[in-house]
Amino acid sequence: MRIGTTLTHYIIRNQREIAGASGTFTGLLNDVSVACKKIAALVDKGALVNVLGSAESENVQGEQQKKLDVISNEIMIEALEHNGHIAALASEEMEGIHPMTAERRGRYLLLCDPLDGSSNIDVNVSVGTIFSILRAPDDATEPTEADFLRPGTEQVAAGYCLYGPSAMMVLTTGEGVSMFTLDRDIGEFLLTRENVTIEADTKEFAINASYQRHWDDPVRRYIDECLAGEDGPRGKNFNMRWVASMVAEVHRILTRGGIFMYPCDRRIRAQGKAGKLRLMYEANPMAMIVEQAGGAATTGTQRILEIEPEELHQRVPVILGSRNEVERVTSYHG
Ligand code: AHG
Ligand code: MN
Ligand code: MN
Ligand code: MN
Repeated sequence: MRIGTTLTHYIIRNQREIAGASGTFTGLLNDVSVACKKIAALVDKGALVNVLGSAESENVQGEQQKKLDVISNEIMIEALEHNGHIAALASEEMEGIHPMTAERRGRYLLLCDPLDGSSNIDVNVSVGTIFSILRAPDDATEPTEADFLRPGTEQVAAGYCLYGPSAMMVLTTGEGVSMFTLDRDIGEFLLTRENVTIEADTKEFAINASYQRHWDDPVRRYIDECLAGEDGPRGKNFNMRWVASMVAEVHRILTRGGIFMYPCDRRIRAQGKAGKLRLMYEANPMAMIVEQAGGAATTGTQRILEIEPEELHQRVPVILGSRNEVERVTSYHG
């Protein structure tokens, strides 16, 4: 499609190719883009509108919420609640699902991480919004949490909005990955890249190395081999990055390749968890985007998109990015 096409126009064109889609899907993505524009405006103004800092509350994950975690969640609800495009909404910041009233119930379910990387908000480093769209059950009776527990392969669409130097929407509906940049002068996301592909090989890895002492052997082996550089078994030097915003890491990987890892480790296991990142609104949408761009996403032992979810806020280990590197780390787990 022509570079500079608006996101709305792109979705309308694209929707014709999604079997059985109606105007609802276009409307839903439009609602999400409105929410992201509102969040982008607040992130942009920051301290000027008193949205930085802590909210002095905890979410269901036991994390301290930032003011913008709470506000972004409210913006998502407000944007989606009255338009009849979704049957229910689930979010990192809400323990249970948020069903729509019967007269406002739509055909889709939406899961989101309203503000990803929120520990970065006070230091003016990139944050983002991640979303995953599933079909609501056909009978459209009152949706339950169980209706959300579908494997990532069933996602109809997934995307994120990165609030960086530019605000960018990155979207897949299962036909490749497209990027849109927010033109603030006209208030629209405009297409700036289509058919994004991730290089199969890379010389750049991303992992929080402060947890090194807790790592399992396969992860330790992989990173040791990268760090050994051109004299080691890999025969090349590696660079390292860690933004601590998954959206920013995935965006870098879509742009110039790389591998991102948030593995399980002894520390996480001791807390009774299987990982840090959440399957339904972090790992699954990002895995769909990365696979659609020709990359791979696993837990080390399983393709992320094939996990049968058990809980809304389930956590999983995440290894994603350049295909050959992800396959290498995964083989070390074998
Ligand atoms: P969120 O801000 O939505 O809770 O997610 C933060 C996640 C993810 O974006 C990032 O990769 C990771 O947490 C950073 O964790 P560490 O602080 O342990 O590095
Ligand atoms: Mn959080
Ligand atoms: Mn997150
Ligand atoms: Mn978040």
